[in-house]
Amino acid sequence: MANTVLVGAQWGDEGKGKIIDVLAPEVDVVVRFQGGNNAGHTVKVGDKKYVLHLLPSGMLHEGKQCVIGNGVVVDPAALAGEINELRERGIEIGDRLLISDRAHIVFPYHGALDACREAACREDKKIGTTKRGIGPAYGDKMSRVGLRMGDLLDPEFPQLLTERMGEVNRVLEAMGAEPLDAAKLITGACEATRVIGPFIGDSIPFLDAAVRDGKSILFEGAQGTMLDIDFGSYPFVTSSNSTAGGACTGTGVPPNKIDRVLGVIKTYTTRVGEGPFPTELTDEVGELLAREGNEFGATTGRPRRCGWFDAVLARYSAMVNGFDVWAMTKLDVLDKLETIKICVAYECDGERYDTMPGNIRTLQRCTPVYEEMPGWQTPTCDCASFEDLPQAAKNYVKRLVELTGVKLGILSVGAQRKSTLRIE
Ligand code: GDP
Ligand code: IMO
Ligand code: MG
Repeated sequence: MANTVLVGAQWGDEGKGKIIDVLAPEVDVVVRFQGGNNAGHTVKVGDKKYVLHLLPSGMLHEGKQCVIGNGVVVDPAALAGEINELRERGIEIGDRLLISDRAHIVFPYHGALDACREAACREDKKIGTTKRGIGPAYGDKMSRVGLRMGDLLDPEFPQLLTERMGEVNRVLEAMGAEPLDAAKLITGACEATRVIGPFIGDSIPFLDAAVRDGKSILFEGAQGTMLDIDFGSYPFVTSSNSTAGGACTGTGVPPNKIDRVLGVIKTYTTRVGEGPFPTELTDEVGELLAREGNEFGATTGRPRRCGWFDAVLARYSAMVNGFDVWAMTKLDVLDKLETIKICVAYECDGERYDTMPGNIRTLQRCTPVYEEMPGWQTPTCDCASFEDLPQAAKNYVKRLVELTGVKLGILSVGAQRKSTLRIE
């Protein structure tokens, strides 16, 4: 397979984990390029369910090489826990994992600062973060005061962390939180390093060699386009570039080595956390989508907000990512609906919007302009090809393709590997 960047097109949880699991056998290397353990990527294999937060989803395939790129922020204890869990479940890690020495570390104080900031916010300003310390960790990176994975292996690590804790504890105390004990943090980090230390190395020449040797790379995005720090619904976003451009800055693989960008998009919309969501449904249809789609956060367990497919958002997402092809997911979740709506434009203050407004207060006032299509009220999860789908389902998917201007490559009609229709 060509070198492919795979990103979420909406507000995350589009089913990226499942699609990566399906594509992993066709590539040599799977690399995560941004985000941290705020992500939760679910892979279902038979009756087994795996939720990966930091490890690339390719890890579940025997012999597959996986990389945690420099653009990721890594909580060492969380990663050690994930590695141990996979081992306990019989997944061999061996030398299949490489963690970039340039990836920044998420320490417990980042989580504490994340929680403090959220608690201090006025109700309508809260972001509803995962409280995993992601914003403060990326903040430290940009402020040039962060520690990186390579530092864990440095004999000076205890001193580096102790020095950093001076400022951190002053900030925590100013925010009314308890200061943290540097010695405890050092012990915790050293314990985690016993598990993850052997995997830390220089991922840049590794990926360069993979490209030169003609190996194929799958870049695993986390979160989604509308959570991107630049292109998302700022400030209700995460703190990294979760769009396609992040694949280059987050791995060191240059743009001219990327062949294809694949957008993963649900055939409806969900969002977890706060912030505007024009097509949100707070009625029984929203409840049906949540129930049928089992829409609960894979990281925090919070219920996800649900709504109709938003073609304004999808077109904008295709614009900033340059999608060559869609992987559309969860069509089966719509199976029971009599009619289905699609948002084709927004209206705000008497004006029509065909693209996503940049101003958050404008987006908060936008109302959707809908068109309606008949549902199919037939199960789709056992369909073996696109042609097998009920006619109304085919029409719905074709309309989404038409409205977004991106062709369809994969259609997912169930969480299992087998419920995947390849269109290419
Ligand atoms: P990710 O963060 O993008 O990897 O998505 P999540 O794993 O957080 O959430 C997607 C959920 O939908 C997971 O529970 C998947 O097992 C499930 N899923 C993925 N594709 C499909 C599908 O086509 N149909 C159904 N019903 N569930 C799916
Ligand atoms: P995956 O990779 C859905 C959301 C949080 C919150 C906002 C900021 O599974 O699709 P953060 O903790 O990142 O500072 O929170 O971003 N968020 C996600 N929502 N899926 C995710 O990841 C998310 N990662 C963060 O709910 O609204
Ligand atoms: Mg998720």
